[in-house]
Amino acid sequence: MSTVKEQLIEKLIEDDENSQCKITIVGTGAVGMACAISILLKDLADELALVDVALDKLKGEMMDLQHGSLFFSTSKITSGKDYSVSANSRIVIVTAGARQQEGETRLALVQRNVAIMKSIIPAIVHYSPDCKILVVSNPGIIWNKRRTLSQYPLCLGAEWCLRCCEN
Ligand SMILES: NC(=O)c1ccc[n+]([C@@H]2O[C@H](COP(=O)([O-])OP(=O)(O)OC[C@H]3O[C@@H](n4cnc5c(N)ncnc54)[C@H](O)[C@@H]3O)[C@@H](O)[C@H]2O)c1
Repeated sequence: MSTVKEQLIEKLIEDDENSQCKITIVGTGAVGMACAISILLKDLADELALVDVALDKLKGEMMDLQHGSLFFSTSKITSGKDYSVSANSRIVIVTAGARQQEGETRLALVQRNVAIMKSIIPAIVHYSPDCKILVVSNPGIIWNKRRTLSQYPLCLGAEWCLRCCEN
């Protein structure tokens, strides 16, 4: 039997199994959450999914967004460590990345971040084969390396964006 609290918050909005514009953000750090807030404020998605390896942080960020969701049109905000939460996304924004450690060279950082990308990209592709991937994570050379990780028709990296801004 459900509690009074569960009855009160039960199904005010019907679950839409077929989101038309689902956006997933991988990495809920400073950049990922800035993206999330921008997407919600601009009403760009009908479903927002967050993925991160840091479960406690992920849960906290999702609860914060859900708390404010009365003020957003995006009705569904989900999160998880498993990429199944990202299924059927139109756009996946990758902001996950390791931070440069003291004394670490940019090249060493690239190697660590390439390893992270290798675990992320196939999982995204598996659950959202038709999505577009936007890679924000630095350093930008990951973008060139990442292209060999999946055969995507379109993947926009930060370098690409900067080049567009220059032109
Ligand atoms: N392109 C740009 O203009 C631009 C601007 C700022 C930052 N960045 C880059 O964006 C990235 C994120 O920056 P930030 O300040 O948000 O960093 P952050 O450290 O605050 O957040 C990174 C998040 O990625 C998560 N993460 C790490 N490995 C993961 C994995 N394998 N799977 C899922 N999540 C994982 C971490 O748990 C963390 O929550 C960095 O690479 C940074 O250099 C790019």
